[in-house]
Amino acid sequence: MEFISNHPIIDITKKKEIEFTFDGKILIGFKGMVISSALFLNKIKIFGQHPKDRSPQGIFCANGQCSQCNVIVNGVPVKACMTLLTEGMTIESCNGLPELPMDDDPVEVKDINIINTDVLVIGGGPAGLSATKILGESNVHVILVDDKAKLGGKLVLQTHKFFGSQEDVYAGTRGIDIGNILEEIVSTLDSVEIWINSIALAVFSDGLIGILKEKDEYILVKPKYILIATGAREKMLVFPGNTLPGIYGAGAFQTLVNRDLVKAAENVFIVGGGNVGLIAGYHAIQAGINVVGLVEALSQCGGYKVHEDKLKRLGVPLFTSHTVISANGQDKLESITIGELTDSWKIEPGSEKTFACDTLLIAVGLDPVNEFYHKALEYKMKVWIAGDAQEIAEASAAIFTGKIEALKILTEIGVPITENLKVLEDFANLMKIKPPDPVQTDLIDKEEGIFPLFHCNQEIPCNPCTSVCPQEQIKTVDDLITQLPYFSDDKDCIGCGKCVSVCPGLAITLVDYRKDRDSPVVTFPLELTSEEIEVGRTVIVVSNDGELGEFEVTRSRFLKEYPKTQLVSVMLPSEIAKTAVGIKLIKSTYTEPIDFYQQLYTGDDIIVCRCERVSVGEIRKWIRYGVRDFNELKALTKAGMGACGGKTCTLLINRIFREEGIKQEKIIAGTKRPLFVEVPMSAFAGIKTKKGI
Ligand code: FES
Repeated sequence: MEFISNHPIIDITKKKEIEFTFDGKILIGFKGMVISSALFLNKIKIFGQHPKDRSPQGIFCANGQCSQCNVIVNGVPVKACMTLLTEGMTIESCNGLPELPMDDDPVEVKDINIINTDVLVIGGGPAGLSATKILGESNVHVILVDDKAKLGGKLVLQTHKFFGSQEDVYAGTRGIDIGNILEEIVSTLDSVEIWINSIALAVFSDGLIGILKEKDEYILVKPKYILIATGAREKMLVFPGNTLPGIYGAGAFQTLVNRDLVKAAENVFIVGGGNVGLIAGYHAIQAGINVVGLVEALSQCGGYKVHEDKLKRLGVPLFTSHTVISANGQDKLESITIGELTDSWKIEPGSEKTFACDTLLIAVGLDPVNEFYHKALEYKMKVWIAGDAQEIAEASAAIFTGKIEALKILTEIGVPITENLKVLEDFANLMKIKPPDPVQTDLIDKEEGIFPLFHCNQEIPCNPCTSVCPQEQIKTVDDLITQLPYFSDDKDCIGCGKCVSVCPGLAITLVDYRKDRDSPVVTFPLELTSEEIEVGRTVIVVSNDGELGEFEVTRSRFLKEYPKTQLVSVMLPSEIAKTAVGIKLIKSTYTEPIDFYQQLYTGDDIIVCRCERVSVGEIRKWIRYGVRDFNELKALTKAGMGACGGKTCTLLINRIFREEGIKQEKIIAGTKRPLFVEVPMSAFAGIKTKKGI
């Protein structure tokens, strides 16, 4: 594993080296890194052993939710993924249950501060930031709480350009840049207080919200209004070997790679062909990581076709109608076995293939983090919800719903608004639309002049190409954001390349017949290297169906407005000029399956509750005895009683109920209790914990 020192999209500044020890060994990390990333950097993926069965534990959510990454720092157990590395830190693996730190000093209980505010926004991601901006611009007092060291939520991981429209959701701008833009705006607003590194712990029936401010001081906030913008957590899958270190969510992977710049894998396999999985695959390739393949249970990927095409062009095999049979390895992931699904969702015998890989990314969907919202509703508080916490959709939709909910709060406060909420909500619904099937489009006949070609054939909400054309010639059918773009030809294209640069799907090329009709020059977007491609260099030109051949570069450039998207021009024979959609710099290497081997498990051995290591078999046994109540299951098996508080296993247990033929209405949901995450008891006595750990 290594530090990513060169990336086509992320600007990397030299970081200060930090010395620390892990289990007595002196290691080096970098300033600003969390402990888990520093350990990964040093090729350490196993952080400890589970107290129940000594199974290896490592990173899982990378988001402070699961405690799988616990380590001991200076005698105190901490989450490695949420704790910043500091100079000289002594870190030990957490083998079994950590001992209680010796602390015999008498405790002086202090009063807890209660702070009033107009609006408490929980979550500083796309929805929370955009809502805070709207509220702060109207001079409403806001406390914005976020558990990370930097605002932005998932935006800080998103190196790709956003879909949607430029005027509403910064379409064509990269998520990381949108995060910075919004952060800069909200930090200049006088009526906004920003509490980073601060965790919302619980919503109480007396209208107070408990917050551990800067991970150090317990504070109660009494807001008049609350906006929940807590985002989503990744769903997990049940399959043999699913808890091996090296298996984690696509978001956790992006945190390691895009935020902490750790080349966290050599060979990665992805489960799930939605946008999250497809984008994670592209991000891996940008970080120099080989993507062995992607498996999707449905007959086609559910994410945007343009994201899927980007991976296909780079030679990543997409196994649709396939599923994971098992993850294989002793203490860490060594390979995965996949198999083809029949129409009745069974594995086709003989279709099994095993691929060597060190990392498996689970990208099978997201689950809204909405517990605070439901508690606040239960306690009759004035609460709104936005972004993924409201409904899972693209981050661009989250920016928009944050704005809408903030406008609703302004209306409630009595601040006049000029926007028509109904119109905005209709637009938000458009943004949240699931991608429809691609449509068949014909290649245009024209073979003269210069013009853009649109290789997107799926009606998704996206139109930044229409905004950047200086000739105002790019339009969508009926001017609808969900319709496909076309070049209207009333005025000539001037070949500026802005549409090619801005397209989030990298799905526009520019075809120029002006010099030579038989050998037009085609310009492609490239986001795989930060180095300028030299004229005369050979690149591989690809269509969506494969490689078209090697051709020399005739020109390369970056436009000032889009400094990370290189425009590379190549002269091509006219018969392939319109089907060519992209270029790549190296030939794809297909990873052949290895000989089949699979560690034997029975279905009942698979772990469903990671925290308490409860197996499918244990749950199934009690369901068959007639248990229908989650609370009872919890008492009998301890499932859901661990550090994550049932955030991961609840959905999986629901699935076992379904497999056992139990209808949803017969299942009694578990009681949700505070606290949202673990916190030292001393915090409630007003005692400040040691900062930083
Ligand atoms: S991996 Fe750190 S809390 Fe989940």
